[in-house]
Amino acid sequence: MDALRIEGGHRLEGVVRISGAKNAALPILCAALLADGKSTFRNVPALRDVETMAALLRFMGASAEVAPPIVTVNPAAVNRPEAPYELVKQMRASVLVLGPLIARFGRAVVSLPGGCAIGERPIDQHLKGLEAMGASVTLEHGYVKVTARNLRGADVVLDTPTVTGTENLMMLAVLAKGRTTLLNAAHEPEVEELARVLNKMGAKVEGAGTDVVRIEGVDSLQPVDHAIIPDRIEAGTFLVAAAATAGDVLVENCQLEHLEAVAAKLRLAGAGLVREGTGVRIRASATPLRPVEITTAPHPGFPTDMQAQLMVLMCRAGGQSVITETIFENRFMHVGELRRMGAQIDIRGRTAFVSGPTPLSSAQVMATDLRASASLVIAGLMAEGRTEILRVYHIDRGYERIEEKLANLGAKIERFRGRS
Ligand code: EPU
Repeated sequence: MDALRIEGGHRLEGVVRISGAKNAALPILCAALLADGKSTFRNVPALRDVETMAALLRFMGASAEVAPPIVTVNPAAVNRPEAPYELVKQMRASVLVLGPLIARFGRAVVSLPGGCAIGERPIDQHLKGLEAMGASVTLEHGYVKVTARNLRGADVVLDTPTVTGTENLMMLAVLAKGRTTLLNAAHEPEVEELARVLNKMGAKVEGAGTDVVRIEGVDSLQPVDHAIIPDRIEAGTFLVAAAATAGDVLVENCQLEHLEAVAAKLRLAGAGLVREGTGVRIRASATPLRPVEITTAPHPGFPTDMQAQLMVLMCRAGGQSVITETIFENRFMHVGELRRMGAQIDIRGRTAFVSGPTPLSSAQVMATDLRASASLVIAGLMAEGRTEILRVYHIDRGYERIEEKLANLGAKIERFRGRS
């Protein structure tokens, strides 16, 4: 299994270009199922999750050609509207085929994703919306079986603003008869991006990016050619990595308006952040940062996907930072590994108290999920000595060529074959 070796203590300097957004690309690849003919997507990141989604589309009979940054999908030959456990267990976002399959083929059999490293992550809100629109849902042998003859628009109030749930229901409603209103919908920029793509395909979706999304069903959709927005979490991760090493980095191809909550905390901590061209420049000094309080929340609040990275940065702050995770119940898996590197972090319930400034010392650590892995990479960049991060397959799910991009900024980082 691949591992990363990092020689810490080198300041990041230079320019890094951000890739397309993973969490926008995944639903958009599924949206291609909604139209007969070949759709072309540009600025798609080269990631394991994109490969997994392409494998799932092929399993169903679609053609999916992945040549990043271009991916084409043609669903003309889909004959098996199913998502098997083998693929769903590798990537929960596989459930995003549910909405388009039912909308287009009237049926779907999708393995129920179990819990994962960060939490239980049920899909009850997705299923509630499907039923409200006239689908019949049964659970058998770990699979959700859905059939629908006459899908009709409905008013659906989501109990929680689920991102993939909102996306699934949007992709279902675009071909349902009549009007659907999703209330308490997720606001994330990736939801807005999916709406943009659906509308380019001929759908009538309004209000995406707010908590009320209105969809007027249409009879059919056309294939699309679309370039995906930049990945705000990859951009945020590089901003934090720069701040962590007292660096000076221009993060190019980054939409600051998608990252306001992260930028605000970085500024409060004392990093200088300015828009520059199509990117953001960050400059941080080697003096201790100021501690911050962070509570994760749905967009435009502070993203849970940046919590682990900010936590490691706060080891450089003089005083106590308080970080509360409200989205996932088990998203502090990085804390044990960071403590092994000398971090002083106490956890009480869903809140972590980080005391600093604490110098980190290198260690062998284990990646447990995607964003936790990113925090360990940042810890390795900050630490004195040589850090080895095992199980980096987690990071390859969501960060394109991370070691190459960091090395270009002056980090001493290499990939090697680890023992586990
Ligand atoms: N939830 C329910 N019922 C549902 C759906 C969600 O109770 O039917 C709960 C979840 O358990 C969680 C909360 O609602 O407590 C929010 O979960 P959400 O459904 O919004 O998460 P998701 O759609 O499964 C997406 C991203 C995640 C990101 C979250 C939150 C994709 C493919 N994944 O997941 O990204 O953390 O939204 O912003 O878009 C990552 O990229 O590392 C990642 C985990």
